[in-house]
Parts: sequence; structure tokens; C-alpha cells
Amino acid sequence: MNLSVPEYILSIKPYVPGKPIEELEREYGINDSIKLASNENPLGPSPRALTAIQNALANLHRYPDGSGYMLTRKLAAKLQVKPENIILGNGSDDIISLLAQGFLQAGDEAIMPQPAFLMYDIVVRAAGAYPVAVPLKKMCTDLDGIRKRITANTRLIFINNPHNPTGSIVLEPEFTRFLESMPPEIIVVMDEAYIEFVRHAGCADSLGYVKSEKPIITLRTFSKAYGLAGLRVGYGVTTAPIAELLNRIRQPFNVSSLAQAGAVAALDDDEFLAETMQTVHAGLMFFYEALDRMEISYFRTHSNFFLIDVKQPADAVYEALLKEGVIVRSMASYGFPHFIRVNVGRMDENIRCIEALKKVMQ
Ligand SMILES: Cc1ncc(COP(=O)(O)O)c(C=O)c1O
Repeated sequence: MNLSVPEYILSIKPYVPGKPIEELEREYGINDSIKLASNENPLGPSPRALTAIQNALANLHRYPDGSGYMLTRKLAAKLQVKPENIILGNGSDDIISLLAQGFLQAGDEAIMPQPAFLMYDIVVRAAGAYPVAVPLKKMCTDLDGIRKRITANTRLIFINNPHNPTGSIVLEPEFTRFLESMPPEIIVVMDEAYIEFVRHAGCADSLGYVKSEKPIITLRTFSKAYGLAGLRVGYGVTTAPIAELLNRIRQPFNVSSLAQAGAVAALDDDEFLAETMQTVHAGLMFFYEALDRMEISYFRTHSNFFLIDVKQPADAVYEALLKEGVIVRSMASYGFPHFIRVNVGRMDENIRCIEALKKVMQ
């Protein structure tokens, strides 16, 4: 290639998403496969969101409301913040990118757990800055380890609560201590893509700190608990000055009109949210009991996905499961060569996954 591409762009490893069902079926000539690889909602989209999206179709000739007026206000009322504390994104991915674009310059550093959601590393490198990876401690985010890696160049710290891929959480007292020790020029990014699934009362509450005007941003999404991953809508809750800066650099119509309509309606879909929680929590119990009986160890999660220790190369187990029509995620590229990550599906999918696992682990 004759193009002049910056070294830091060449250093980026492409994001590898969970394998789409269609791709698996094309490649292996099978049908009726199931996907438990991308932590999606097994129940489908929120029905209220679907109706709202259908109603919004007739206005597709119009640009979306670039300010996201309705959605911003609805979120503000629900979370008890002001509309100026909210930034909307084309998925929370979009806001992760905006943070790097807005706050990192070449040579700056951003700290993140290792492993972590791969987008953190990608956006930091794309800004010409350095990702500083801090290994997990006993599968949990090592806040002390992160604190020790802060330098004069640190601008952003990414924390994922619950953590992907381990499903561990950060507890309130250690989070408070961590924030109290933060220099004021560092923005703490609390990525809470899976927060709705948490049942532990001691889980850190980042929104409380946003309200206290600390330089922190909470990221949330409609992709998981609300079943709207294909729609692409997420949001950040932060101080008004940070939101204002991010709003300056986002695309003016970054959240489509359908996404705005769907998200507004999804926020009222308490019934769907409750059913999702019931499905995920019952599914987890099923998995734990089945794996206990099979004497296969796993890591208990606070999210809708969890890690299974297959005690053999995870890539091989992943491939073998694919042949059974079951898509999970090998964690080899995340630095866990013997773990697969499985998200909870509908009960028929969970049973199918366990049956396939029994077969391939023999
Ligand atoms: C930890 C974490 N953050 C953010 C995202 C991105 O979600 P969204 O669909 O809102 O872009 C994901 C998606 O898998 C995730 O696992």
C-alpha cells in the first residue's frame, strides 16, 4: 500500500464481532443455529419500541431531531439529572469514540483494564494516544493497579461495570475511594452497558458522582436490556461542560429518528424489562446448575453473560460448538485461552447450548 498511514492507525487490531447466525449457516451448510455470543437480549426487541418505530416510519423523509429533545428529557426525568447532563450516541460505542476524539491528543494516555471491551483500545489508538492496560485482579477491575499507572499524561480512565467479559462488578466503597483520589483533570468513564442486570446492592453507583459535578461520565445503552442492539442508541450522563464538548463534535444526526422513537418508548416498557431480567436470571441459574452437574467450572456473573472454563483450548471448543450450530465467543484473544463466554438465551437455547457443550467436551 502506498498510502501514508500513521503508525498508530496501523497498530489497531480490527474489532471482531460475534459471528452472525447467517454467516455460520452459510459456511457450515446448517440451519436452526443459535447465537449466544454478543450479549444480546434473547426475547427480541421491546414490543413498545417496535410499535413506536413502526409509527415513526412515515416520517423517514425528515432528518431526525438533532437535539434528541424527547429522549434527552425522558432520560433526564428518569435519572433525575438535567437534560444538559445527557449526550446521545449511535450506540454507546459512538460516545466511547467521541470521548477519545474530544479529550485525547497524540501522546496522551488512557488507562483501561486488561482484558476489556475492545473498543477502548481501538479509539485510544485512533486518536494517536496510548492505551495503558492494567491486568484484572482475581477477574475483577484492579482500581489500585489503575491508580498506580496514572501519570501526568493520563486523560481518560475506562472502567466497565459490570465488566465485559468477566461479569464482575466494582463495589461502592472502593469506587468512592478511587474517585476521591482522582486528579481533577482525568475523566473517569464508567461504561455501564450491563448495569440493568445487576442485583448486588453494593454495586458502585456512578450517577451519584455525576450529580456531584466530578469529571465522570456514565455510559449506558439500549442494546442489551431493551433488546435494541440493531437500532444503535446509547447515552452518556455527565457534567454539563463535558456533555457540551461532546455535543460539539458529534455528528449532528448521530441518532436516527427511528432510534429516538424506539428508545423513548422502550423506557416505558417496564413489563419487557422485567421479563428480560426474569429470563436472564432464571437462565443463569439453569446454566450454573447444569455446569455444576457436569463438573465444569465457571465464573459467577453480575451480567447477562458469563465465562466457562473449558480447561482446553477455547478456540477448539468454540469451533466444535459452531458445528453444533451454537455460536459462543472464544476468550483466547482476550487473554483467557481456556475460557468461552456465553450469554444467557431463551431456555430452549440454554438447553441446546448445554447439550452441545456436553457433546463437545466428551
Ligand atoms: C462493555 C460494553 N460497552 C459498550 C458496548 C457497546 O454497546 P452499544 O451497542 O451501545 O454500542 C458493549 C457491546 O457489546 C459492551 O460490551
